[in-house]
Amino acid sequence: MQHLYIWLLILGLGSAVSGIIHQDISAIANVDFDFIVVGGGTAGSVVASRLSENPNLQVLVIEAGPSNANVQDSMVPFNVFSLAGTRFDWNFTSTPQSGLNGRTLPYTRGHILGGSSSINSMFYTRGSSDDYNRFAQVTGDPGWSWDNIQSYIRKNERWTSPADQHDTSGQFDPSDHGFSGMTFVSLPGFSQEIDDMVIQTTKQLNHEFPFNLDMNSGKPLGLGWLQSTIGEGARSSAATSYLNLTVIQRQNLHILLETRVTRILPATNGTDLSFRTVELLSDSGAPVLVNASKEIILSAGTIGTPNILLHSGIGDKDELGRLGIASVIDLPDVGKNLTDQPVISINWATTSQNPFDGLLVNATLKATELAVWEQNRTGPMVTVGINHVAWLRLPSDSDILNQFPDPSAGQNTPHLELAIGSGMASFFPGHFVGVGGALVTPASRGTVQLGSNDVLAKPLIDPGMLNSTFDVMALRESIKSAKRFFAAPAWKGFVLGIAGPLANATTDQELESFIRGNVFPSGHIVGTAAMSPQGANHGVVDPDLRLKHASGLRVVDASVMPFVTCSHTQAPVYIIAERAVDLIKNDWNSP
Ligand SMILES: Cc1cc2nc3c(=O)[nH]c(=O)nc-3n(C[C@H](O)[C@H](O)[C@H](O)COP(=O)(O)OP(=O)(O)OC[C@H]3O[C@@H](n4cnc5c(N)ncnc54)[C@H](O)[C@@H]3O)c2cc1C
Ligand SMILES: *[C@@H]1O[C@H](CO)[C@@H](O)[C@H](O)[C@H]1NC(C)=O
Ligand SMILES: *[C@@H]1O[C@H](CO)[C@@H](O)[C@H](O)[C@H]1NC(C)=O
Ligand SMILES: *[C@@H]1O[C@H](CO)[C@@H](O)[C@H](O)[C@H]1NC(C)=O
Ligand SMILES: *[C@@H]1O[C@H](CO)[C@@H](O)[C@H](O)[C@H]1NC(C)=O
Ligand SMILES: *[C@@H]1O[C@H](CO)[C@@H](O)[C@H](O)[C@H]1NC(C)=O
Ligand SMILES: *[C@@H]1O[C@H](CO)[C@@H](O)[C@H](O)[C@H]1NC(C)=O
Ligand SMILES: *[C@@H]1O[C@H](CO)[C@@H](O)[C@H](O)[C@H]1NC(C)=O
Ligand SMILES: *[C@@H]1O[C@H](CO)[C@@H](O)[C@H](O)[C@H]1NC(C)=O
Ligand SMILES: *[C@@H]1O[C@H](CO)[C@@H](O)[C@H](O)[C@H]1NC(C)=O
Repeated sequence: MQHLYIWLLILGLGSAVSGIIHQDISAIANVDFDFIVVGGGTAGSVVASRLSENPNLQVLVIEAGPSNANVQDSMVPFNVFSLAGTRFDWNFTSTPQSGLNGRTLPYTRGHILGGSSSINSMFYTRGSSDDYNRFAQVTGDPGWSWDNIQSYIRKNERWTSPADQHDTSGQFDPSDHGFSGMTFVSLPGFSQEIDDMVIQTTKQLNHEFPFNLDMNSGKPLGLGWLQSTIGEGARSSAATSYLNLTVIQRQNLHILLETRVTRILPATNGTDLSFRTVELLSDSGAPVLVNASKEIILSAGTIGTPNILLHSGIGDKDELGRLGIASVIDLPDVGKNLTDQPVISINWATTSQNPFDGLLVNATLKATELAVWEQNRTGPMVTVGINHVAWLRLPSDSDILNQFPDPSAGQNTPHLELAIGSGMASFFPGHFVGVGGALVTPASRGTVQLGSNDVLAKPLIDPGMLNSTFDVMALRESIKSAKRFFAAPAWKGFVLGIAGPLANATTDQELESFIRGNVFPSGHIVGTAAMSPQGANHGVVDPDLRLKHASGLRVVDASVMPFVTCSHTQAPVYIIAERAVDLIKNDWNSP
């Protein structure tokens, strides 16, 4: 799967250049584009790939980051930990969080073709049927319901066997999957010493951790085998799948890399407001305008999309006015309702002698195993060291649900996720097992706002993390649950004590202070340009993803989700993007 991209730089011939283009805007000067996709990320790659299936449509993708081709850390699943803080990361940081003793949080976002799907942890989790039925309910569009999105799941998913080719019967339900879509999905390709103990625990603590054959059936509750966007031992991203070597050679698809879009400009025709002009920065830093005859698709992600909208005068009129930005559409919810899932990491020392423990921190061992991966794409580097996930719902009679409204979408929906990691994934040298405990239905909401009218300044990201007491109380339950998990008989003689400061935290107060001091973001941000019913005063886009009160501009990325799914968010983004393509093609009568 080592793609050698073909550089088509036929300059000076006056003919349109297709394929990958670096910065050179003059290469596309003579093309009349039908569609411009802003951001070649997870959703943007889907939209560009699908729209350019019609050879009569000219499609331009503008991506701020570089190509994903030959970026080994993006290909080797285990090297996911090496991508944050590099040139493939936007390097965002949150504002100081009052719920976290004033700490700031790093916000990693993909700055590379494929976007965050080129740098994420590759979990493939769709969420619950309730999540999509709630999307349908709050937008008034039954098209977003679980039943209706099944075809989009299958357009995206290409189920494949794991890297080690093990027998996968009893580890997933084939009837829940698509086998002929674009993005590879597979079960873990490297077995872990703890696999049997995890499965035994589902029997011993059957009430709290029942085995779930397939967490992607719409009913995720229980513990099951993780599915990941990995195929043939390597990451399958929106770029490697939707923008593969064949697709990027299409004559009608143009991909402009390392180029930043700054604003979307309006045009008025009578009283109709439309957006068909994109402002971008040329290599020299001078602004350049590029037009689309049909639509601009904004797919810059949950931080990039509101950032561009706000700089374009689309947002809260008063807030923009204070920064000297003229209001074009007064849409107060742009950048509001940001929702992210907080995570806490808990580790236990073990008596294990597993030679792969500490792979993350042992450079010698890592080099050896990387050589194995390079040889035949097997070995421990084909996973991220997590083979199982448990999805848990707070009991209906719990104190928490008595005190607070339930933020979950329904009875099939977990509040908590426990990702069970082997010693391979431990950040400590030595022998450990760990749990990443996430609150997947947070009640806190945050914002993306501008700090100035400088189009190149970083926006202010305030996730409002742990602002809601519900979130703290629910995360406390995730720690208690993880402790019960490793207290099961299956772990006797293997698991020793909890590592780190949590060892001495027993009271609720001590647990709360541990949580506030150690929680980190999952990166599953949604909601910053949310869908709402046609004609509603709140929200940013209509259920067909068109910007309210205007034509020519659609938002297609994780920003449009009005609530976070009870899952990691790439599968929902793929689903939304595949449906968006149908909505766009329908509107333009395109096959
Ligand atoms: C560290 C991390 C780990 C994650 N792990 C998982 C996981 O294991 N499983 C899972 O399901 N989800 C995971 N997620 C979440 C998931 O990856 C995202 O929800 C999803 O990829 C978002 O897709 P998107 O299309 O909304 O945005 P993105 O994929 O981020 O795409 C946005 C694109 O727009 C580009 N862009 C932004 N601004 C501009 C501009 N001004 N001009 C030009 N281009 C621009 C960006 O460079 C980027 O390529 C993770 C996220 C992160 C950050
Ligand atoms: C992120 O930070 C790293 C380290 O400082 C830097 O090398 C990289 O270029 C930055 N990323 C971007 C997109 O600027
Ligand atoms: C790329 O994807 C297209 C569309 O699905 C497919 O027809 C083609 O075979 C793929 N090419 C490669 C090199 O994988
Ligand atoms: C302006 O609107 C009219 C009426 O809808 C339409 O016929 C015309 O083509 C539009 N002009 C432009 C430049 O979009
Ligand atoms: C693009 O549209 C703008 C108006 O939004 C117009 O001023 C400009 O001339 C157009 N450019 C081209 C090349 O058509
Ligand atoms: C790192 O791995 C090497 C090779 O497996 C091993 O010999 C060494 O003891 C490990 N180092 C530590 C600190 O565990
Ligand atoms: C892969 O390569 C390694 C290192 O050469 C070797 O030990 C292993 O047996 C190979 N595995 C397969 C499945 O070929
Ligand atoms: C979180 O709470 C603090 C303290 O009440 C407040 O200052 C901050 O604005 C809140 N953040 C958000 C995004 O609501
Ligand atoms: C826990 O408390 C004991 C007794 O006070 C102390 O010796 C130990 O260092 C503490 N452990 C941690 C990880 O803080
Ligand atoms: C957030 O979402 C809710 C529910 O959809 C909506 O009522 C509200 O107006 C949105 N905006 C803000 C700023 O809370």
